[in-house]
Amino acid sequence: MSTITVTPIAGSLGAELRGVDLRTMDNHAWAQVHQAFLDHKVIAIRDQDLGAQDMMDVGARFGEPNHYPFVKGLDGFPFLFDVIKEPSEKRNFGGGWHSDTTYLKTPPMATLLYALETPPKGGDTLYCDMVAAYESLSERMKQLLGGLNGVFSAGLKNSGGRSLHHAQIGAMKVTAGETADTYEAVHPVVRTIEETGQKAIYCSKVHTTHFEGMTGDESHPLIEWLVAHATRPEFTCRVSWKPGTLTVWDNRRTMHNAINDYQGLRRHMRRLTSGPTVPA
Ligand code: SIN
Repeated sequence: MSTITVTPIAGSLGAELRGVDLRTMDNHAWAQVHQAFLDHKVIAIRDQDLGAQDMMDVGARFGEPNHYPFVKGLDGFPFLFDVIKEPSEKRNFGGGWHSDTTYLKTPPMATLLYALETPPKGGDTLYCDMVAAYESLSERMKQLLGGLNGVFSAGLKNSGGRSLHHAQIGAMKVTAGETADTYEAVHPVVRTIEETGQKAIYCSKVHTTHFEGMTGDESHPLIEWLVAHATRPEFTCRVSWKPGTLTVWDNRRTMHNAINDYQGLRRHMRRLTSGPTVPA
């Protein structure tokens, strides 16, 4: 029976896991990995050696695969795609605090990101804990947010548009930026996590254009404040990647932000989202 070590990496969320081979794990090992995911929201599983099919198999433990609409998948693996930044490129993919594809009607519960090549310095990913951020609010603010729905768009309306953004990430097979505005969904700004009963703030500057029934001008100050609040240092953790690290994060209870601090260096990751859910 395998002994998996689970070591927290920050006070609020995030843990590092060692001592498991995800390709061969049995149900007992999976139960420990899953429990660590529920307990810590972000798990960085070190020293893996995953091919495309292995990654699909691990993703299936978390749920059905989700399709990402704006990047072409790998040949034979349409749900997997590579996140690459070449030394010559300036923009990165996944910068700015967000939860993944919240503009879909059924956004993914989990994202799996596997490091194939990492820069010798930089290229970490930040995460923040949307449950801790919610729990620290005043009761009156919780009530206010509990009555709000957010309108989520893929158009990156607050940061210049997806076509423009994607056009600057040349190494990736990006597609369909011009149809981004058609991807829109309405979700509650406070969602409840089925397994734990926890409540989490569900809102970002990257995707939430406004609150339903309110104008953008009326909504933006509160969206700005919620993101500033949720990303206070005590609600964050940071994953430093090494080739062979698979990090799985819970999109229902976290946001993430890929740090673009490795200009002139190459970073190559592989990404899969799993577990389509209706936020409620
Ligand atoms: C993403 O937002 O899915 C990418 C995060 C990263 O590359 O660190």
